[in-house]
Amino acid sequence: MHMGLADPVPAVRTAAEAAVKPLELAVVLPTLNEKANIAPMVARLEQALGPSGWEAVFVDDDSTDGTAEEARRIGQTDPRVRVIQRIGRRGLASAAIEGMCATAAPYVAVMDADHQHDPQLLLDMLEAVKSGEYDLAYASRFADGGSAAGLSSTRRERGSRIANALARRLTGTELSDPMSGFFLLSADRLRQQAARLSGIGFKIMLDILATASPPLKVKEFPLQFARRAAGESKLDHGVALDFLAGLYERWLGRFIPTRFALFGTVGGLGVGVHMAVLSVLYLAFGSGFALAQAVATVVAMTFNFWLNNLLTYRDQKLAGARDLFFGWLKFCATCAVGTFANVAAATMLQANGFAWWTAALAGIALASVWNYALSSKFVWGR
Ligand code: GDD
Ligand code: MN
Repeated sequence: MHMGLADPVPAVRTAAEAAVKPLELAVVLPTLNEKANIAPMVARLEQALGPSGWEAVFVDDDSTDGTAEEARRIGQTDPRVRVIQRIGRRGLASAAIEGMCATAAPYVAVMDADHQHDPQLLLDMLEAVKSGEYDLAYASRFADGGSAAGLSSTRRERGSRIANALARRLTGTELSDPMSGFFLLSADRLRQQAARLSGIGFKIMLDILATASPPLKVKEFPLQFARRAAGESKLDHGVALDFLAGLYERWLGRFIPTRFALFGTVGGLGVGVHMAVLSVLYLAFGSGFALAQAVATVVAMTFNFWLNNLLTYRDQKLAGARDLFFGWLKFCATCAVGTFANVAAATMLQANGFAWWTAALAGIALASVWNYALSSKFVWGR
């Protein structure tokens, strides 16, 4: 007899086939230089979740230590292990989103690959969401029975608590650890919301909670946050800033881009520095005005260069005496042209009947845009 496509598949299965559960859970593990942690993590996932029914999706941002190669090596003999290697992109949140969107599993979890999160919690988290009672399950370092002892410093722990308090206020969610990077939800729900997530920074769960409507029902699981197994944290530096930038991005970023806002804020602080230096030299020390103004200008530009390097362009920071020196020179040159354009435009407007202060503000706006555009390309650009 001829077998057509519509014919039912014969229901005869070997015992081994019957033991293979259909894919139920994808565990998304963003990685950045975690090579030594990959194989032990797969082993721990198997221990926690059993031999089948799950897959691990490593989302690697082109690590230099061979993390992606290591995950692919394991994936060649273990089909539960999958790898997304992203080239030329960075970021924990966007890596998590891409991983969660890249699976056929009906449930998705995100967790760190460095063994700070305990995979043993996954089954209970899955059960909580599968039962339909909760939309999202997550592991909290600050819930009763949890612990944040694995945080790399007490300063970091304090920062974490402050960020939590702030996050709670802003999203209205009463969670003990909204910055947690260990959570689980249905893949459908995630996909419904994916377009609304910013993908910037690292507070991905917070973003999911903040953009959900109606609000998600959340179940907390106490987590003993362990010390990382191998390698080092990528979030230690600039975590707080990243967090604030993320909040800004969410509320105002569509009006004024985050980087430009930072650049402008630094510029504003520079004006303060300028006035302070000027008044000290001119008023207190009685220097000539031209000299005092010139010194104040150089000090303010240097200050702006330094702070922009530290904040505005922290992801492409210049380091090393030579790069810093030439960066500073180029920054000063950019600002000099900006100042020239500023004065020229303001003078012209004022001469053409604009009020002095509108002319001045227009000149400043012109210079800011110029300085920003040029310095992002020529001072910090690649
Ligand atoms: N793909 C990708 N891209 N992965 C990244 C990136 C990135 O830019 N940055 C970090 N990761 C990976 C790391 O390799 C690790 O597996 C995981 O994300 C967490 O990074 P860590 O560098 O170990 O973060 P942490 O331990 O300092 O921060 C923890 O606490 C935060 C809240 O304080 C994590 O649990 C975070 O998820 C959490 O938000
Ligand atoms: Mn970590």
